[in-house]
Amino acid sequence: MDNRPIGVFDSGLGGLTAVKELEQVLPGESVVYFGDTGRVPYGTRSPETVRAYARQDMAFLMSQGVKAVLAACGTVSSLAGDIGRSLPVPYFDVVEPTARAAFAATKNGRVGVTGTNATVRSGSYEKALQALDPGLAITAAPCPLFVPLVENGFLDPDDPVTLEIARRYLEPLKAQSVDTVILGCTHFPLLRPVIARVMGPQTRLIDSGREAALALAEALEVQGLLCGPDRPRQAAFFVTDDPEGFCRVAEPFLGHSVEGAVAQVTVE
Ligand code: DGL
Repeated sequence: MDNRPIGVFDSGLGGLTAVKELEQVLPGESVVYFGDTGRVPYGTRSPETVRAYARQDMAFLMSQGVKAVLAACGTVSSLAGDIGRSLPVPYFDVVEPTARAAFAATKNGRVGVTGTNATVRSGSYEKALQALDPGLAITAAPCPLFVPLVENGFLDPDDPVTLEIARRYLEPLKAQSVDTVILGCTHFPLLRPVIARVMGPQTRLIDSGREAALALAEALEVQGLLCGPDRPRQAAFFVTDDPEGFCRVAEPFLGHSVEGAVAQVTVE
């Protein structure tokens, strides 16, 4: 039994997709969330910069006394897994659990991968999918503008700007008749309604934040690292820019207030 909080981080709001799932499956667990909102996006930056940021983000979570670290960020997961695996606590990320879920979901063996530029360039999801089945047909599409759309709350599937960007980005996946799409950046599930509208109701959308949270929950249980019963759940959120913008998107998405639980910090 381990009553310390779980540490979750992302470049910004995207990792809340993992937090939301953790709140469902592990309602007693406390969470420390770190969103690097002052430096988002990561996905347009060089691997060296992403790795330097990731190192600082993980060091911040470790300073909060977490029992495990979840990189709820496709970009960090793709470029800085070795840094995470060298931490003195269990480390989890999004790529492998998401690839496993996509492999289980596809019926026609044609899988689409969406992510940031850095994630798609790294080929991380392709490698994980091919390790499961080299016969899968994989089409990858970088969707970098999805990140600022989410950070600025452009989530409405009827918004003509959001819809047009989604149509352009997802066109190559539709052209390849994929039946499963990996939302390989944790920001993208917040755009699920518009992505579903463009891809059509038959396409399965795999939420990387959710899959990572489920894998973490299972591993903590197996390793005996869950908290004790009847613990008051505590959630603390740390961001590197003004908390106001974070709260505006986080509250409707999580479905509860985060008032008084969000603080601004520097990690450089
Ligand atoms: N949410 C992150 C990811 O999963 C990063 C988005 C970004 O900062 O570009 O890739």
